[in-house]
Amino acid sequence: MQRRQFLAAGFSSITGSLLLSQHAKAELSENLAQLTQTLGDNNRHTDSQAFWQNVKHQFPLQPELYYFNNASLGPSPNIVNKAVQEFRLQLESFPSKYMWGGWKKEKEQVREKIATLVHASPEDIALIHNATEGMNLVAASLKLSPGDEVILGNHEHPSGTIPWQHWQETKGIKLVRPELPLLPQSTREIVEIYRQAITDKTKVISIVHITNTNGMILPIKEIADMAHDRGILVAVDGAQALGMIPLNLPELGIDFYTASSHKWLFSPKGLGIFYAKRSSQHFIKPLIVASGYEDKSIRRLENYNSRNLPELLGLGVSVDFHQSLGEQKKYQRILELKHYIRKRLTSDTQFHIKTPEPDELSAGIICVEIKGQEVRALNDRIAAQSNINCRPMDVLTLNGLRFSLSIYNTEKDIDYLINALQMS
Ligand SMILES: Cc1ncc(COP(=O)(O)O)c(C=O)c1O
Repeated sequence: MQRRQFLAAGFSSITGSLLLSQHAKAELSENLAQLTQTLGDNNRHTDSQAFWQNVKHQFPLQPELYYFNNASLGPSPNIVNKAVQEFRLQLESFPSKYMWGGWKKEKEQVREKIATLVHASPEDIALIHNATEGMNLVAASLKLSPGDEVILGNHEHPSGTIPWQHWQETKGIKLVRPELPLLPQSTREIVEIYRQAITDKTKVISIVHITNTNGMILPIKEIADMAHDRGILVAVDGAQALGMIPLNLPELGIDFYTASSHKWLFSPKGLGIFYAKRSSQHFIKPLIVASGYEDKSIRRLENYNSRNLPELLGLGVSVDFHQSLGEQKKYQRILELKHYIRKRLTSDTQFHIKTPEPDELSAGIICVEIKGQEVRALNDRIAAQSNINCRPMDVLTLNGLRFSLSIYNTEKDIDYLINALQMS
């Protein structure tokens, strides 16, 4: 596409662009165009280091910060921050109009962009605050009876376990907690553990897609297939998956899937998605009831009355950013970084990797024990001495540092990290 043609297309592809000032529209389109052009250049030449350095510059991270903590929270790129700033000014110029319907079309555009990203229908997507809310939606809605069982593996995030404890445990349901190996050799091993946890009382499997502990990817489709043969509902916590790995939610065959977009999709903070298969939507009830709660569509789950719409529209621009890079390109880069760090770590025997190696079992998160080091003290030391931010993981015998590898990390950053670990 010629540059001018791209710019023209860019105008309509930026969410809410009709409402942006001419200046902001031009700037945002220019930024996206530059990104896409650089991508084209990169495909023509082989200077990929320069390309990824350019991608890094799209993020406002402090220049001296070595950020390996995307699994906790991702940074939003400049283009998203600029758009949100514009949306905010727009809202402030006529608050009641934009809050109460003036952005209805733009909000639907965001839903469509998310739906396209995960290969679902917009009618199956609710725009919520985060994965924690999504897991609460499921646990609060289902009508379970005393003796019913819910399977929750031992790597579930507190946001995936506490809602079950709070909403259901007092009703006499049983939480079944199978233990997963830290380093499974194959997905079959994990499926087998879930198979053995199922009884004729199992009603729900509530399962994380990518564990936040050691970054292990769980075989959701295989587990969902097995569950559905037995009439069991499957709810997935995809907080670490959306934006990290390609997702086709209908193909996974699950009933419910929730994710925070402010991690790997780099959206403004306090945003997430909730997907429900059409035939399972009737199970889910809104957590907050306000006018519109009787809506039969999935929109009833996101009806909080007033809400933070500039950020929500910014989510659409995050999807634009993601798509302008390309889902596969982003995923392949994350794998490239994973392979690079693994190679560096395995050449030094003081490092013990606690994340499975096959690409079907891990991608952008790696957990590493440094022999003889207490993980919290080590974390504090590398933060103070080397300005490295990662996450100490001392649950489940891990005693490791969790590093997230995202598209703004480079091989040079990884070299710096390994060097800092070797020196501390
Ligand atoms: C697997 C998993 N689930 C849920 C959450 C909670 O995310 P949020 O605070 O965005 O709801 C996290 C956060 O790290 C997570 O890693």
